[in-house]
Amino acid sequence: MSEGKDVLILAIESSCDETAAAVVKNGREVLSNVISSQIALHTLYGGVVPEIASRKHIEKINYVIREALSQAGVGLDDLDAIGVTYGPGLVGALLVGVAEAKAISYAAGLPLVGVHHIEGHISANYIEHKELEPPFLCLVVSGGHTHLVIVKGYGKYEILGRTRDDAAGEAFDKVARAIGLGYPGGPKIDRLAKEGNPDAIHFPRAKVGDSGYDFSFSGVKSAVLNHLNACRMKGEPIAEADIAASFQKAVCDVLVEHTLYAAKEYKIDKIAMAGGVASNSALRAAMKDACDKRKIPLYCPSPILCTDNAAMIGAAAYYEFMAGNRAGLDLNAVPNLPLGER
Ligand code: KG4
Ligand code: ZN
Repeated sequence: MSEGKDVLILAIESSCDETAAAVVKNGREVLSNVISSQIALHTLYGGVVPEIASRKHIEKINYVIREALSQAGVGLDDLDAIGVTYGPGLVGALLVGVAEAKAISYAAGLPLVGVHHIEGHISANYIEHKELEPPFLCLVVSGGHTHLVIVKGYGKYEILGRTRDDAAGEAFDKVARAIGLGYPGGPKIDRLAKEGNPDAIHFPRAKVGDSGYDFSFSGVKSAVLNHLNACRMKGEPIAEADIAASFQKAVCDVLVEHTLYAAKEYKIDKIAMAGGVASNSALRAAMKDACDKRKIPLYCPSPILCTDNAAMIGAAAYYEFMAGNRAGLDLNAVPNLPLGER
């Protein structure tokens, strides 16, 4: 690769219930971003069914990749590398993307770059905020993860806090199911909460041991379930919108408080958010408000880049590629891949 030449990466993401492929130029310019969502299928079962997810990925992946290349107007010959999510995630789902990426890499003679899914979520911020560079603090809130991370450099992470039990998105999904909203719960609670009073019911804001940065969401989830049971037993009406708004506020309060506390303690002057829950309108508003008060710039990807997509994997793969990191054809799926290890 000669200096100054554009770097085009085909990125593949299949860690959960979205089959996705994208072509990304120089880590920050998205030439195509194709997502085939399985949400409607899993809704029938109230959550993601791993075996169905794997089977759908294998059915869709070639079409999704072909579409991503066609929308970008490029062929395999134009590419510099293939980037693929190899963990964390559902093993069977990950294997589909990893096997596909290896096959293309081998057939087209292209370098292969393995990407950590959370690194992908964080890197989604680079796409629309061209000026954003590390170091910054990032709150990663998705269906499977809740991490407070210092992004020290490209590909260099220090995890300050994480959830001790449920991930933030998981809590949204479980509470939504309990109040009868269905899967996926996050967007549904977000919508319903707009009609409710966030101060109607006080749900607990968990403090976790002596760590100022760890999270716990099982307490607030249980409090919602207890509240629902109490209403049912007393024959009182269930105010779904108030419950959604009050639950959402309890979760957002903790997320914002921990993030701002960490920024202050570590003297970090830029905050970013990432992951599906980062598209939550109340969280975005509360974090913006808190950051404005402290005059700290806040970066959030557009909602479509918050939830799972391959453009974010292409952004992360670019920085791995530029750092000289390559995967071999023995690359495997790693369901519990820790952030910051390779
Ligand atoms: O990042 P993501 O697409 O997948 C994982 O890597 O887990 O996140 C999916 C999660 C789900 O739990 C979903 O309910 C939640 O993000 N989510 C939301 C919103 N949109 C998606 N949670 C709250 N408010 C939203 N608007
Ligand atoms: Zn994700």
